[in-house]
Amino acid sequence: MISKTMAKKLSDQINREFYSAYLYLSFSTEAEGMNLRGAAAWFLAKHGEEMTHAMKMRRYLLDQEAQVELGGIDAPPEKSGTILAMFEQTLEHERSVTAHINDLVDHALGEKDHATDIFLHWFVTEQIEEEATVNDILGRLRLFGDQGQGLLMIDNELATAAQAIQQAA
Ligand SMILES: [Fe+2]
Ligand SMILES: [Fe+2]
Repeated sequence: MISKTMAKKLSDQINREFYSAYLYLSFSTEAEGMNLRGAAAWFLAKHGEEMTHAMKMRRYLLDQEAQVELGGIDAPPEKSGTILAMFEQTLEHERSVTAHINDLVDHALGEKDHATDIFLHWFVTEQIEEEATVNDILGRLRLFGDQGQGLLMIDNELATAAQAIQQAA
């Protein structure tokens, strides 16, 4: 059993994970419209990952016999315009998610809720990897350009990366 406050905080995080999924679905759709098949596949794979995160948290709350509160999910922002802007927004978003995960860990530790603390460790590690991956893509976009040959090369890399994400899932 976990506290009502902890359960509510985890429910709020479920909502944020669904929002992340929705945001990446919107980026995937925009990339598809720009004929960037690799980026579209990559964001779609990220959409799937974020859904998994939300479902992991839902499962944890159910296993702890805690209340799951599913709230409304905000609409994603208007079109980003460029692939560079999409990845910049992705990094900014993942950094805010990391801050929320850290808050959840702080709260679990404050309540001496060891089960939730240990449960959240997976997410702490996951956020390090996600930020590093997006930072790497952003670095390559800035180096090789987000148009022409450079973009085509990065789009091909993203197609390969998307396959790897799907195979790991
Ligand atoms: Fe996530
Ligand atoms: Fe994420």
